[in-house]
Amino acid sequence: MKKHFAALIIALLPGLAFAAGGAEHPLDKVDIDLTDKAAMQDGARTFANYCMGCHSAKFQRYERVADDLGIPHDVMLNNLVFNDAKIGDHMKIGMQPSDAKAWFGAAPPDLTLVARVRGNDWLYTYLRTFYEDTARPLGANNLMFPNVGMPNVLVGLQGRQYIGCKQVQVVEDGKKLFDPLTGTPITHEACDQLVVEPKTGQLSAEEFDEKIQNLVTFLAYSANPVKLKSQRIGTYVLLYLAFFFVFAYLLKREYWKDIH
Ligand code: HEC
Repeated sequence: MKKHFAALIIALLPGLAFAAGGAEHPLDKVDIDLTDKAAMQDGARTFANYCMGCHSAKFQRYERVADDLGIPHDVMLNNLVFNDAKIGDHMKIGMQPSDAKAWFGAAPPDLTLVARVRGNDWLYTYLRTFYEDTARPLGANNLMFPNVGMPNVLVGLQGRQYIGCKQVQVVEDGKKLFDPLTGTPITHEACDQLVVEPKTGQLSAEEFDEKIQNLVTFLAYSANPVKLKSQRIGTYVLLYLAFFFVFAYLLKREYWKDIH
């Protein structure tokens, strides 16, 4: 009986995982280029200015970030470090988890590795789908993370986003519909859409998406700072093997040439 029960639980596990992650909003895809230092510098700046009030990246040191991203140490200290940390320090913050829990209902987790846990697409979508919700204590909700404790900290850049009505293109059988005569998209009004109130944010929609793309690029780097290096080493290893193969082959010929 016990065995059957265990089997049942195991059979149900994938379904449970789906339910837990079951946000209905589809993931928006993001292209991450871990060789784009300008993007990562911009992301690091956004992270220091908008995220480190609440989130640490405590498995990472300022110095390592500066060196990897090509930021001179004095520029790093003057522009990206807002406490009395030294360049060699870990990227910790002053907020106490117990205070944070009282203020937000949940402690802001450390973000050093969040890109590995959640994935780049999830982060990109999450950071762009905060919306106004007066039912929430801090007035904000999120499509990827229903009833999130985090306030909408990027509202000044993105503008006031809410769920409202807008014209969206009609999709039938997965295909977008166009007017056969004029070629213009066929639209209908949908009222479950994210809408940004015009002129309430510093950035245009495209600029905001790029800001978030850069921020996610930085978080992806942070979660795996050796990725670039391991790719480079991998190339060397393969080159070495190819090179060595020639000599191994010549040696084999030498050994076998008198044996018939
Ligand atoms: C005012 C404090 C505050 C600021 C500033 C803030 N966050 Fe948060 N964040 C939170 C809290 C609180 C949570 C936990 C939410 C929960 O569990 O309900 C959270 C959760 C998250 C999560 C989800 C983590 C997980 O896997 O569950 C991510 C990702 C995140 N924040 C990213 C960011 C980024 C990126 C920034 C900067 C643009 C930022 N946060 C700025 C308070 C903050």
